[in-house]
Amino acid sequence: MDKIQERTREIDAAMADIRAIEQRDGITRSSLAKIRQRLIQLAARTDLFTLQDFPPPEPGGKRQSCLYRLAEDADHRHALYANASLGGHHTPAHNHTTWAVIVGVSGEELNRFYDRTAENGVREKGRHVVRQGSGVSFMAEDLHSIHIDAPLLNFHMYGLALEQLHRREFYKPEEHAWEVFPAHSDIREARPGRA
Ligand SMILES: [Fe+2]
Repeated sequence: MDKIQERTREIDAAMADIRAIEQRDGITRSSLAKIRQRLIQLAARTDLFTLQDFPPPEPGGKRQSCLYRLAEDADHRHALYANASLGGHHTPAHNHTTWAVIVGVSGEELNRFYDRTAENGVREKGRHVVRQGSGVSFMAEDLHSIHIDAPLLNFHMYGLALEQLHRREFYKPEEHAWEVFPAHSDIREARPGRA
Protein backbone atom coordinates (compact mmCIF):
# COMPACT_ATOMS: atom_id res chain seq x y z
CA MET A 1 0.00 0.00 0.00
CA ASP A 2 1.44 3.40 -0.89
CA LYS A 3 1.55 6.37 1.45
CA ILE A 4 -1.49 8.14 -0.03
CA GLN A 5 -3.61 4.98 0.21
CA GLU A 6 -2.50 4.41 3.77
CA ARG A 7 -3.22 8.02 4.72
CA THR A 8 -6.68 7.79 3.13
CA ARG A 9 -7.40 4.56 5.00
CA GLU A 10 -6.35 6.06 8.33
CA ILE A 11 -8.42 9.23 7.75
CA ASP A 12 -11.47 7.19 6.71
CA ALA A 13 -11.17 5.00 9.83
CA ALA A 14 -10.94 8.07 12.10
CA MET A 15 -13.91 9.74 10.40
CA ALA A 16 -16.02 6.57 10.77
CA ASP A 17 -15.19 6.42 14.49
CA ILE A 18 -15.98 10.14 14.91
CA ARG A 19 -19.36 9.82 13.15
CA ALA A 20 -20.14 6.88 15.43
CA ILE A 21 -19.22 8.90 18.55
CA GLU A 22 -21.53 11.72 17.44
CA GLN A 23 -24.34 9.34 16.57
CA ARG A 24 -24.09 7.59 19.91
CA ASP A 25 -23.42 10.52 22.26
CA GLY A 26 -24.45 13.66 20.36
CA ILE A 27 -22.23 16.72 20.68
CA THR A 28 -21.33 17.47 24.31
CA ARG A 29 -18.10 18.43 26.00
CA SER A 30 -17.48 14.78 26.85
CA SER A 31 -18.20 13.50 23.32
CA LEU A 32 -15.90 16.22 21.93
CA ALA A 33 -13.19 14.91 24.27
CA LYS A 34 -13.63 11.46 22.68
CA ILE A 35 -13.46 12.98 19.18
CA ARG A 36 -10.34 14.88 20.21
CA GLN A 37 -8.78 11.66 21.49
CA ARG A 38 -9.53 9.89 18.19
CA LEU A 39 -7.91 12.75 16.25
CA ILE A 40 -4.86 12.64 18.55
CA GLN A 41 -4.57 8.96 17.57
CA LEU A 42 -4.68 9.93 13.87
CA ALA A 43 -2.15 12.73 14.43
CA ALA A 44 0.27 10.24 15.98
CA ARG A 45 0.89 9.00 12.42
CA THR A 46 3.51 11.68 11.85
CA ASP A 47 4.87 9.54 9.00
CA LEU A 48 1.63 10.20 7.06
CA PHE A 49 1.25 13.90 7.87
CA THR A 50 4.34 16.01 7.30
CA LEU A 51 4.98 19.59 6.19
CA GLN A 52 6.47 18.08 3.02
CA ASP A 53 3.12 16.40 2.29
CA PHE A 54 1.17 19.53 3.24
CA PRO A 55 3.41 22.52 2.61
CA PRO A 56 2.58 25.93 4.09
CA PRO A 57 2.17 28.94 1.76
CA GLU A 58 5.27 30.37 0.12
CA PRO A 59 7.04 32.91 2.37
CA GLY A 60 6.32 36.54 1.52
CA GLY A 61 2.70 35.97 0.50
CA LYS A 62 -0.49 37.40 1.97
CA ARG A 63 -1.23 34.45 4.24
CA GLN A 64 0.99 32.64 6.71
CA SER A 65 -1.21 29.51 6.87
CA CYS A 66 -3.27 27.37 4.53
CA LEU A 67 -5.74 24.55 5.02
CA TYR A 68 -5.82 21.19 3.22
CA ARG A 69 -9.21 19.48 3.13
CA LEU A 70 -8.68 15.89 4.28
CA ALA A 71 -12.31 14.84 4.71
CA GLU A 72 -15.83 16.21 4.45
CA ASP A 73 -19.20 14.43 4.25
CA ALA A 74 -21.46 14.94 1.21
CA ASP A 75 -23.69 17.15 3.37
CA HIS A 76 -20.61 19.22 4.37
CA ARG A 77 -20.55 17.89 7.93
CA HIS A 78 -17.45 16.46 9.66
CA ALA A 79 -14.87 18.59 7.86
CA LEU A 80 -11.26 17.71 8.66
CA TYR A 81 -8.39 19.96 7.55
CA ALA A 82 -4.63 19.89 7.87
CA ASN A 83 -3.51 23.40 8.86
CA ALA A 84 0.00 24.16 7.57
CA SER A 85 1.63 27.33 8.83
CA LEU A 86 4.88 29.17 8.37
CA GLY A 87 4.44 30.77 11.79
CA GLY A 88 3.70 34.42 12.42
CA HIS A 89 -0.04 33.64 12.31
CA HIS A 90 -2.37 35.11 14.91
CA THR A 91 -6.15 35.42 15.06
CA PRO A 92 -8.41 37.57 17.19
CA ALA A 93 -10.86 35.94 19.64
CA HIS A 94 -13.63 34.21 17.68
CA ASN A 95 -16.37 31.59 17.82
CA HIS A 96 -17.09 28.88 15.21
CA THR A 97 -20.92 28.51 15.17
CA THR A 98 -20.30 24.73 15.06
CA TRP A 99 -18.21 22.39 17.18
CA ALA A 100 -14.45 22.41 16.59
CA VAL A 101 -11.45 20.28 17.60
CA ILE A 102 -7.76 21.11 17.09
CA VAL A 103 -4.96 18.60 17.68
CA GLY A 104 -1.23 18.90 17.09
CA VAL A 105 0.86 16.97 14.57
CA SER A 106 4.12 18.96 14.67
CA GLY A 107 5.00 22.37 16.07
CA GLU A 108 3.08 24.38 18.65
CA GLU A 109 -0.12 26.43 18.53
CA LEU A 110 -1.01 28.54 21.54
CA ASN A 111 -4.76 28.65 22.15
CA ARG A 112 -6.16 31.34 24.44
CA PHE A 113 -9.71 30.84 25.76
CA TYR A 114 -12.17 33.64 26.51
CA ASP A 115 -15.50 34.38 28.14
CA ARG A 116 -17.79 37.04 26.72
CA THR A 117 -18.11 39.76 29.35
CA ALA A 118 -21.31 41.54 30.45
CA GLU A 119 -20.03 44.56 28.50
CA ASN A 120 -19.91 42.40 25.32
CA GLY A 121 -16.12 42.27 25.34
CA VAL A 122 -13.84 39.30 26.10
CA ARG A 123 -11.89 38.18 29.14
CA GLU A 124 -9.16 35.53 28.89
CA LYS A 125 -9.87 32.52 31.11
CA GLY A 126 -7.12 30.06 30.16
CA ARG A 127 -4.51 28.84 27.70
CA HIS A 128 -3.35 25.60 26.17
CA VAL A 129 -0.44 24.88 23.84
CA VAL A 130 -1.57 22.38 21.21
CA ARG A 131 1.25 20.07 20.17
CA GLN A 132 1.74 16.40 19.25
CA GLY A 133 -0.31 14.31 21.69
CA SER A 134 -2.65 17.11 22.77
CA GLY A 135 -5.63 19.09 21.56
CA VAL A 136 -8.49 21.42 22.40
CA SER A 137 -12.20 21.27 21.65
CA PHE A 138 -14.96 23.85 21.47
CA MET A 139 -18.73 23.99 21.52
CA ALA A 140 -20.28 26.27 18.88
CA GLU A 141 -20.24 29.48 20.94
CA ASP A 142 -16.94 28.93 22.78
CA LEU A 143 -14.33 31.62 22.08
CA HIS A 144 -10.62 31.21 21.38
CA SER A 145 -7.71 32.84 19.58
CA ILE A 146 -4.73 31.08 18.04
CA HIS A 147 -1.10 32.17 18.04
CA ILE A 148 1.51 30.39 15.89
CA ASP A 149 5.11 31.60 16.01
CA ALA A 150 7.01 28.86 14.13
CA PRO A 151 6.23 26.35 11.35
CA LEU A 152 3.50 23.91 12.32
CA LEU A 153 1.14 21.23 11.06
CA ASN A 154 -2.04 20.42 12.95
CA PHE A 155 -5.58 19.15 12.40
CA HIS A 156 -8.62 21.38 12.56
CA MET A 157 -11.97 19.62 12.53
CA TYR A 158 -15.36 21.32 12.39
CA GLY A 159 -18.92 20.03 12.67
CA LEU A 160 -19.61 21.81 9.38
CA ALA A 161 -17.20 22.80 6.59
CA LEU A 162 -15.70 26.27 6.84
CA GLU A 163 -17.28 27.46 3.56
CA GLN A 164 -20.68 26.84 5.19
CA LEU A 165 -19.97 29.03 8.23
CA HIS A 166 -21.18 32.51 7.42
CA ARG A 167 -21.81 33.90 10.90
CA ARG A 168 -18.56 33.27 12.74
CA GLU A 169 -17.79 36.35 14.80
CA PHE A 170 -14.49 37.83 15.92
CA TYR A 171 -13.79 40.53 18.46
CA LYS A 172 -12.05 43.78 17.54
CA PRO A 173 -10.73 45.11 20.86
CA GLU A 174 -9.67 48.50 19.48
CA GLU A 175 -13.28 49.16 18.41
CA HIS A 176 -14.90 47.15 21.20
CA ALA A 177 -16.99 45.50 18.46
CA TRP A 178 -17.79 42.07 17.03
CA GLU A 179 -17.60 41.48 13.29
CA VAL A 180 -18.31 38.53 11.02
CA PHE A 181 -15.17 36.48 10.31
CA PRO A 182 -14.39 36.52 6.57
CA ALA A 183 -14.27 33.07 4.93
CA HIS A 184 -10.84 31.43 4.85
CA SER A 185 -9.31 32.24 1.46
CA ASP A 186 -6.80 29.40 1.14
CA ILE A 187 -8.44 25.97 1.44
CA ARG A 188 -6.79 23.39 -0.81
CA GLU A 189 -8.44 20.13 -1.83
CA ALA A 190 -6.35 17.21 -0.54
CA ARG A 191 -8.74 14.29 -0.96
CA PRO A 192 -7.33 11.87 -3.55
CA GLY A 193 -9.27 12.07 -6.83
CA ARG A 194 -11.14 15.22 -5.77
CA ALA A 195 -8.70 17.99 -6.72
FE1 LIG B 1 -10.91 28.90 15.61
